[in-house]
Amino acid sequence: MQIHIYETAEQACRAAAFLFAAQLTRKPESVLGLATGSTPVPCYRDLIAYHQQGLVDFSRVTTFNLDEYCGIDYQNPCSYHAFMEENLFRHVNLRAEAIHLPDAPRGDDGGASGRAYDAAIEAAGGIDLQLLGIGRNGHIGFNEPADAFTYGTHVVNLSQNTIDANARFFDSVDDVPRQAISMGIGNIMACRSVVLIATGESKAEAILRTVHGPIDPHVPASILSVHPSVTILLDREAASLLPAR
Ligand code: GLP
Repeated sequence: MQIHIYETAEQACRAAAFLFAAQLTRKPESVLGLATGSTPVPCYRDLIAYHQQGLVDFSRVTTFNLDEYCGIDYQNPCSYHAFMEENLFRHVNLRAEAIHLPDAPRGDDGGASGRAYDAAIEAAGGIDLQLLGIGRNGHIGFNEPADAFTYGTHVVNLSQNTIDANARFFDSVDDVPRQAISMGIGNIMACRSVVLIATGESKAEAILRTVHGPIDPHVPASILSVHPSVTILLDREAASLLPAR
């Protein structure tokens, strides 16, 4: 686990964009794992700028997003489909058929859709570089604190903590879907490399427990400490509880 601490959130996100640009330079046909949430937005902004400057080409890239809410229309601006379209996809030259987000149609408990998503990741050759944010409770993707780690893509019941945290994107807390479909911890651990960005004081406790706590499914991100290639990019606030080095 490599940890880099920057003065500002902007700088931490810029570093993530560098890592993604380097990945695409090294391997233009990379399979990228993408994340939503407010944290990675500046990283996507930088990647769009690199693309517009002719420095980064997405024409041979394949993407798999971590998660999506259940029971939400993709046209709904709060859906992760719409978020990705707005913050990355429509600005770069990704092929439409190379973009993947999980989805669990009504009536599907996630079993069949989850297996299909896992098979699509495998058919693409696995994920080269996965971008992650982190929830205040240590969740990654939508893998909530639980008694056991999850394996493949599955439907989850969102915790009240996550519903409250994500309510800012919706008109009211009642509008936040109660379920989501998410890659599992097994999917994330299978990625060749992982970049996690955490910014702001509200993430400091989760980062402390991820970096220094025991591996514990109640802090889902803690499993990353045994992944062979994880880079954690923090601003000062998210790093504020880490012991001084
Ligand atoms: C959601 C997403 C996560 C994201 C988290 C934190 O729950 N499913 O992938 O990491 O929010 O979001 P933010 O970056 O807005 O704090």
